[in-house]
Amino acid sequence: MRSPLDTVIVQLVVNRKSYRQEVESRRTLADFLREDLELTGTHLGCEHGACGACTVLLNDAPVRSCLMLAAQAEGTHVRTVEGLSTDGELHPIQKAFKKHHALQCGFCTPGFLTASVALLEENPKPTEAEVREWLSGNICRCTGYQFIVDAVLDAAAEMRASDRAEGGRSAEATRTG
Ligand code: FES
Ligand code: FES
Repeated sequence: MRSPLDTVIVQLVVNRKSYRQEVESRRTLADFLREDLELTGTHLGCEHGACGACTVLLNDAPVRSCLMLAAQAEGTHVRTVEGLSTDGELHPIQKAFKKHHALQCGFCTPGFLTASVALLEENPKPTEAEVREWLSGNICRCTGYQFIVDAVLDAAAEMRASDRAEGGRSAEATRTG
């Protein structure tokens, strides 16, 4: 028989949606996302912190969701690969992965995408070496990595250009408004 001590109530935000959920105290964040919330975009490869496939953003920082308990995510905002797009519009990093053929089987891709978003939010203009260093904890068996690096650099450039255009539109609105 299960004791009440085996479960905890977790309150958190996942992809901009609030949850208050009873969860087994030993359930990993990865299993909670995949099985309880049915967000199966987060993949499980090694399940011991080595491959990066399970990477999600916890309060904007990349974490291995296979190494964390769901209970440890109490009060946080988690972003998974499902939360990267906005109103059906792919995130620039997702568009760039598609454009550069930066995936083959796609198993590692959710982890690369979330880790890359964290990089670009922290460092909008990374060098190739910085991209390689940042993503060195994510393993891909298929691509040879070059197309992934190309995609991240391209997404960074796209995002900077879009920020500049947005800034120009805001300045114009202020002048004319
Ligand atoms: S499944 Fe978590 S690091 Fe591999
Ligand atoms: S695309 Fe297959 S493991 Fe990366």
